[in-house]
Amino acid sequence: MIKACLFDLDGVIVDTARYHFIAWKALAEELGFEFTEKDNERLKGVSRMRSLDILLEIGNIEMEQEKKEELATRKNDHYRSFITQMKPDEILPGATEFIKELKENNIKIALGSASKNAMTILDRLQLTDWFDAVVDGTKVSKAKPDPEVFLKGAEELNVLPGECVVFEDAEAGVEAALAGGMKCVGIGTPEVLGKAHLVVSGLHEMNFDKLSKL
Ligand code: G6P
Ligand code: MG
Repeated sequence: MIKACLFDLDGVIVDTARYHFIAWKALAEELGFEFTEKDNERLKGVSRMRSLDILLEIGNIEMEQEKKEELATRKNDHYRSFITQMKPDEILPGATEFIKELKENNIKIALGSASKNAMTILDRLQLTDWFDAVVDGTKVSKAKPDPEVFLKGAEELNVLPGECVVFEDAEAGVEAALAGGMKCVGIGTPEVLGKAHLVVSGLHEMNFDKLSKL
């Protein structure tokens, strides 16, 4: 029996990937190399510092930890200049409706995101009050595909992993859900998210009936 739904944020509830892209691209240009949208795909679901490592790998650049932290902070300041201006109309289609339907059916809701900016985004989208628990990048030490973020979510909701369904757009996120013993709905394409129990193109394709049949 399903008692809770755990949502990833970036790529599931909101499309922040383009803001991350603009900020990482600007940093790459400063460092003297090109960063493409295809490269950006590699950063989805990946933590900020790991993302920087991948970026530097693409540019074939090595640097000390201190300098890396300075660059990550600069990228984040740039990224935050976009997300602090976000409006509720940037919520992806169907997300609000599905969350409301879940609440009407007494399903608990948690956020499970690697982002340290998750609270800012939820506040800007006016979604904070819908969530019974929020586990974000400030609360976890192990990145997806480790299940820590989702297991903490289940714990905060006081439900068992087997009673949870995770919604994820990143392969590492699907793996995290499965490693935690949870059901998973992939948001994207079966080519990338084939390990999930069900793959849909967005939350507009979800409803309580489909959830109950998982
Ligand atoms: C999500 C996004 C990643 C991002 C990560 C950390 O998982 O999909 O692209 O790097 O969060 O985000 P942050 O807001 O903490 O830099
Ligand atoms: Mg995501």
